[in-house]
Amino acid sequence: MSIVDLAALGESFTRDPYPVYARLREQGPVHRIRMPEGGALAWLVVGYEAGRATLADPRLSKDWSKASPSLPIGAVSSGMHMLRADPPDHTRLRKLVAREFTPRRVEELAPRIQKTTDELLDRMLAAPGGRADLVEALSFPLPISVICELLGVPDLDRESFRTWSNDALGAVDPQVRKAAAASMARYLAELVEGKRQRSGSDLLSALIHSSDDDGDRLSHDELIGMAWLLLVAGHETTVNLISNGVLALLTHPEQLAALRADLGLIDDAVEEMLRYDGPVETPTYRFTVDPVTIGDTLVPGGGELVLVAMADANRDPGRFENADRFDISRDARGHVAFGHGIHYCLGAPLARLEARVAIRTLLERCPDLALDIHPAAITWRPGMLIRGPRSLPVRFGG
Ligand code: HEM
Repeated sequence: MSIVDLAALGESFTRDPYPVYARLREQGPVHRIRMPEGGALAWLVVGYEAGRATLADPRLSKDWSKASPSLPIGAVSSGMHMLRADPPDHTRLRKLVAREFTPRRVEELAPRIQKTTDELLDRMLAAPGGRADLVEALSFPLPISVICELLGVPDLDRESFRTWSNDALGAVDPQVRKAAAASMARYLAELVEGKRQRSGSDLLSALIHSSDDDGDRLSHDELIGMAWLLLVAGHETTVNLISNGVLALLTHPEQLAALRADLGLIDDAVEEMLRYDGPVETPTYRFTVDPVTIGDTLVPGGGELVLVAMADANRDPGRFENADRFDISRDARGHVAFGHGIHYCLGAPLARLEARVAIRTLLERCPDLALDIHPAAITWRPGMLIRGPRSLPVRFGG
């Protein structure tokens, strides 16, 4: 099978990967690719059916110790966590956090999410000139302050953490990714230690003291991994749901008008934002153990890297009619923006709640909201994992 060199496509692929994935999908579900980050060779699965099945395929492992040593992929995370574990470790880790990350804890955050959104928008609207970067003003600070509140780390060193988090996930150079992950691990170890000494009613304290029915607890490495996963998820994903969602609205005036006319449509609109341009383009790595057949392709065993183009699954016309059209009135359910199978996103209810509150309140407070940049001039976050603009200049009159 010939190699599709996605690295060679450069900036145009980062800006708009959808047509590239669509062309591959027309040829079949599995392709050998060279990734932009680090030039690693991987097997890319496109299309809805194959993509969804691969996300839940128990023959693929998420354990990095199974990765082929020849793959140029540096560990990007700190500690041991769910997205790097297979059952039974995964089952155990997920159970320990799921019992603390309850719908009640999420619902209890609703007033706090509204208050933070209101304060951020007060500040944005007070800026002289009626212009702002929406990423800096709202999309970034909202999820991070919510996750810090949930975890009980209000004094997180946000600027350092943001740099490490962005670099660990998105830097093209594997050395930069490794160094960022190491800095983050040191910082998290101190954070967990501090929490041990000053426990509260927050999630991190609960995780430190929580044990399951068999008296099982999270080890030190697992606590660091859990804090890493929750904080990075809070930094890298919901941010881009808000930014990509607002961008979709501002570039589709008839959809924006429909939502403004009935803000009760916000739940459906957020589902369509997740489908149309979700924050996770290809989810975290999966590795082969034994040879596996995906579609008609035999993928060798021994730690080959398998990636699922979730962004493409959600644009497959075989599953969603007029899939490239942004349409808030469609039934977008069934999208795989939060993954599928045992690793389905644990934070989905929180992410949905944040996006609904943020976007509804933004529209209510800014009746003249408009894009302040040509869409083609927007610069996008690099790499295939996360999809979102680095900044989103908007104007709102005033
Ligand atoms: C719009 C925002 C979000 C999106 C699109 C998203 C997407 C995803 C996806 C696709 C996965 C599965 C990855 C895979 O199978 O390789 C995942 C897993 C996960 N997400 Fe999210 N996520 C979001 C927000 C959050 C938030 C806010 C949290 C928590 C604060 C969170 C916590 C997690 C955790 C803990 C997992 C691992 C679950 C497991 O391995 O069993 N996510 N997320």
